[in-house]
Amino acid sequence: MARVLTGIQSSGIPHLGNALGAIEPGIELSANPKNESFFFIADLHSLTSVKDAAKRKESVYAVAAAWLALGFDAERNFFYRQSDIPEVTELSWYLSCFTPYPMLANAHSFKDKSDRLSDVNAGLFTYPVLMAADILLYDADQVPVGKDQIQHLEMTRDMAGALNHAVGSEILKLPEAVVRDSVKTVPGTDGQKMSKSYGNTIDIFASAKALKKQVMGILTDSTPLEEPKDPDTCNVFALYSLLANEEQIAEMRANYLGGNYGYGHAKKALLELILDIYEPARERYDALINNPQEIEAQLLAGAEKVRPIAQSVLKRVKDSLGF
Ligand code: ADP
Ligand code: TRP
Repeated sequence: MARVLTGIQSSGIPHLGNALGAIEPGIELSANPKNESFFFIADLHSLTSVKDAAKRKESVYAVAAAWLALGFDAERNFFYRQSDIPEVTELSWYLSCFTPYPMLANAHSFKDKSDRLSDVNAGLFTYPVLMAADILLYDADQVPVGKDQIQHLEMTRDMAGALNHAVGSEILKLPEAVVRDSVKTVPGTDGQKMSKSYGNTIDIFASAKALKKQVMGILTDSTPLEEPKDPDTCNVFALYSLLANEEQIAEMRANYLGGNYGYGHAKKALLELILDIYEPARERYDALINNPQEIEAQLLAGAEKVRPIAQSVLKRVKDSLGF
């Protein structure tokens, strides 16, 4: 039985990139009966950037509703909110005392922002320590993450190794990052990587009207309707290919190459496909988001289920350090 663990920050409403790049692959892993999955909402991490209480709450529920709506089985697995398990901040302190300053100064998450040091809070600087605590607190074996998080996993292993070495015993389990090459980077409506921070998302859980506006707004070149078009440089085609089956992709390719097929037609086909694929998830999402008490109850039940594991690992660490 492998213990699979991953977290998603509560910093907005999940979009198509999050669904295809993180949530759906996570759910797929969790469906393997050989795995036991720990999926949590990293709301403490979101405080490094999001300071608004209402926004954080809304995002926590949105992220939770997205996981559940897309099919995560929270009963069979572990599904919780990071801040409901205060043991994680205590472990984070112990780990921070085994974390050399240069390791943190080297983290991409910090370095990217270090040209404006006055904007960097200590929470952002120690972000990788809290992330290591998230993982080590549950003896996780595998951590599915995007490429940008590999360095954080290496740091997690270094911290665990340093503590184990200092106390002379394998107190903490060293986790492995699982980076799936098959998971593609989903492009946004402007062709860059889809990201909340670029304002180029396709919000699969938004109203049909808002979703239509985003899809119809995808950037294309200005080849006239009658002329043949190159599918391989077109963003609409790229998005369509991530969702459609082989037959549908071949048909759209032929339409592009044949001419008399406009980008408007392609966008309409993409919108229909998105609505078709995500219809059941959208309905479940709406039902959940309109019933936050239900989400809250699931998260609290998840916390109750996972907390004894956190407490026993933390005890192991404290005993080894003489606390
Ligand atoms: P955002 O860039 O919108 O802020 P996050 O950084 O919160 O998204 O990402 C949450 C998860 O979704 C991460 O695992 C990340 O790798 C994945 N993800 C985000 N954007 C994409 C994308 N465009 N394509 C594939 N995966 C993505
Ligand atoms: N840092 C991760 C991200 O931004 C989120 C995260 C927090 C996480 N704690 C984690 C991911 C523990 C995996 C394991 O995507």
